[in-house]
Amino acid sequence: MKRLVILASGNGSLAQAIFDADLANQGAEVVALICDQPEAYVLQRAELRHIESYLIPMVADRDLWNIELENLIAALRPDLVVSAGFMRILPEVITTRFKIINSHPALLPNFPGAHAVRDALTAGASETGTTIHWVDAGIDTGEVIAQEKIEILPSDTEESLHERIKIIERGLIVATIRQLVPSL
Ligand code: GAR
Repeated sequence: MKRLVILASGNGSLAQAIFDADLANQGAEVVALICDQPEAYVLQRAELRHIESYLIPMVADRDLWNIELENLIAALRPDLVVSAGFMRILPEVITTRFKIINSHPALLPNFPGAHAVRDALTAGASETGTTIHWVDAGIDTGEVIAQEKIEILPSDTEESLHERIKIIERGLIVATIRQLVPSL
């Protein structure tokens, strides 16, 4: 079985889609969730699915947090780390040591960063979407694996657009994991 470790910070609807996908057929299993936010709903989602979760809240010394995260990921021996709504930039020591993919709510290289949905609306873009990419130490700069477009509607708010993007994100992250597992 290929070992998947999920990173998430918030609600966790992407993580849920991965938990719910029948990846055992592909020869993969989610072995753990790592979260940086004590109040994140994703922790309850993991508990309900009996998936082990680890909480690593940010500390004043970012270097110590980086080391704690690196050691934890190493101990979990992942074949693939999946950043699914994890709102932290990972240090190079981690991005070079592990295979990591990320789901981003925009068509990279357009609108990298933490406010991708708002930025697409503010720019007056007519379409946006989702990108699954390999994670390097930059801000959403790693090699693109897959993308899917969505039209921006005149009636869209940041919230409505993000919800529509997340519907396609959930499908694309699962499809991408299925595609990658045989080559891990
Ligand atoms: C998703 O849209 C994901 O792409 C985004 O956070 C959301 C998580 O939703 N991640 C980033 O913006 C990372 N830069 P969820 O908590 O419902 O899974």
